[in-house]
Amino acid sequence: MESYLLIPARLADAKRLAGMSQELVEAGLRPSWGALRIAWHIRDPESVVLTARVRSVAEGFAIMRYADDTAHLNLLAVNPAQRRRGIGRALIGWLEETARTAGTFAISLELRAGNMGARAFYAALGYRETTEVPGYYQGLESAVRMTRDLRTPQTTPGAPQAAP
Ligand SMILES: CC(C)(COP(=O)(O)OP(=O)(O)OC[C@H]1O[C@@H](n2cnc3c(N)ncnc32)[C@H](O)[C@@H]1OP(=O)(O)O)[C@@H](O)C(=O)NCCC(=O)NCCS
Repeated sequence: MESYLLIPARLADAKRLAGMSQELVEAGLRPSWGALRIAWHIRDPESVVLTARVRSVAEGFAIMRYADDTAHLNLLAVNPAQRRRGIGRALIGWLEETARTAGTFAISLELRAGNMGARAFYAALGYRETTEVPGYYQGLESAVRMTRDLRTPQTTPGAPQAAP
């Protein structure tokens, strides 16, 4: 497996990331994450658009927007050929670390209720499901809201607990 690097997106990446979003996240929906919207986040000082690059090509990316004490994960996708090698976890880990440094402690996100793979992914990273929002995606599909409090350590089942 070739190594990957985590690098903030450049404006020139916007078109590729929009294509990935339409194919991997918004399949079957009217695309809402076009290149202009992604370019807006690349320029926005409150957002981080982070890419995971293999041989300089963006194979994964995530967009997070930071507010005072909360942050919202807008998008996350990894190309199928590069999945299950820790890229998604590394992207989220980098963005969570940035949030901690900025004093942000709660991260929220929505995802398609039928996306069981991603629900399992976020659960593995310590996110918990809070509510389901019917029709959130263009009236066609419900969303599940998930959150993580960064002050709570990420627990691995069976892992020894830290002493109080
Ligand atoms: C969700 C997604 C980003 C995960 O990316 P990834 O790079 O494959 O994830 P990782 O390799 O970092 O996985 C970390 C852990 O999450 C869990 N996990 C990841 N994908 C999973 C799946 N499909 N089913 C069950 N658990 C999964 C596993 O515990 C995994 O650890 P392991 O491989 O050691 O078992 C990727 O599947 C994807 O792009 N999906 C389509 C787009 C999407 O759903 N985006 C999220 C909603 S916006």
